[in-house]
Amino acid sequence: MARRSIGVVMNGVTGRMGYRQHLLRSILAIREQGGIRTAGGDVLWPEPVLVGRDEGKLRDLAERHGLAERHGLRPWTTDLAEALARPETEVYFDAQVTPARAAAIRAALAAGKHVYTEKPLAEDLADALALARLADEAGVKHGVVQDKLFLPGLLKLRRLVEGGFFGRILSVRGEFGYWVFEGDWQEAQRPSWNYRAEDGGGIILDMFCHWRYVLDGVVAPVRSLQVLGATHIPERVDEHGRPYKATADDAAYGIFELDGGIVAQINSSWTTRVFRDELVEFQVDGTEGSAVAGLRRCRVQHRSMTPKPVWNPDLPATDDFRADWHEISDNAEFENGFKTQWEMFLRHVAEDAPFPWDFYAGARGVQFAELGLRAWREGRRLDVPDLVRSKE
Ligand SMILES: NC(=O)c1ccc[n+]([C@@H]2O[C@H](COP(=O)([O-])OP(=O)(O)OC[C@H]3O[C@@H](n4cnc5c(N)ncnc54)[C@H](O)[C@@H]3O)[C@@H](O)[C@H]2O)c1
Repeated sequence: MARRSIGVVMNGVTGRMGYRQHLLRSILAIREQGGIRTAGGDVLWPEPVLVGRDEGKLRDLAERHGLAERHGLRPWTTDLAEALARPETEVYFDAQVTPARAAAIRAALAAGKHVYTEKPLAEDLADALALARLADEAGVKHGVVQDKLFLPGLLKLRRLVEGGFFGRILSVRGEFGYWVFEGDWQEAQRPSWNYRAEDGGGIILDMFCHWRYVLDGVVAPVRSLQVLGATHIPERVDEHGRPYKATADDAAYGIFELDGGIVAQINSSWTTRVFRDELVEFQVDGTEGSAVAGLRRCRVQHRSMTPKPVWNPDLPATDDFRADWHEISDNAEFENGFKTQWEMFLRHVAEDAPFPWDFYAGARGVQFAELGLRAWREGRRLDVPDLVRSKE
């Protein structure tokens, strides 16, 4: 059993996603578990090189997590070009703010690195497709984070769809969101750039990338969309206590038509207070049964167990509607989805294991967000054309 080190340049690791999900819960967790066993019996061992703008923060991170020098070089740098020039770095990963992503990916592709990135791949479809083509031309492996596919709740939902539980699926209703504090009397729990369109913010660009692969991958391909966006809170207060104008959408109300006439509605909001069991929930109704899936849980009601409520507002409700639903058991150990996808990508790089979520998949997410913004602006329903790989 040989150990094969694989150098990973990680850009944006001082940020929320870069640190918590990608460095801590993925790459460092993979090292803690002893690496990744390949089909050939070797062990893949990721060696992160942290990249960012703040030397102090990078040094702290490296020290806190015991990352050591390799080949006489520090495991961090503020110079992306220098990290990419290190011959032992094979993969570039990007979790920077969205507008910084495309240029950094171009640099990584020019240096011949395989690239894995947070979503959205780019700020618009043209750029996303340009990156996909560049990556193909460079002959490297490429991938985009699609973490929601690995959520236990959605894995269970997928199991139900694939097992034919629903009969004919009629509709999907998704509720995503929570209240993001304005930053005045309580600190906001998301970075302020999310609320400025000029900095790559907005809930449509953020969340529609996810909804595209969730709908396509778990239910059925999306064919058209209608969207009403809103900036409900026009002014917020940033990390430094300074008020700023919120120029980006903080809520989006979408209606989507899927293959087979399935109607999906998804509300995405940073301006709603949670009266749900989880921060995202999808209800799928079919002729044979229904399901409600969240991040972790999934509950079902079969046709044979469907109660017969009678509408009578003159009397207080006595039915316990939730009691008529049944919990789907785990039947498996669910790992952190970010980590699972990292393991798949690294095995894709090292031994060509399958990895379906390439830059074209990422571009489909960006396409959906772009169409969503246009549908809202133009106040009309838009088709979602198929994206074909340039090589096909
Ligand atoms: N997959 C998911 O569920 C998910 C969730 C949230 C965010 N994201 C994506 O991850 C990326 C990062 O989001 P985040 O919430 O971690 O953001 P964040 O603000 O917490 O982190 C941003 C990172 O980018 C770096 N950066 C580089 N150039 C910058 C600049 N000019 N201004 C500010 N920061 C700069 C920062 O130093 C920091 O490391 C975004 O593209 C976002 O869409 C994905």
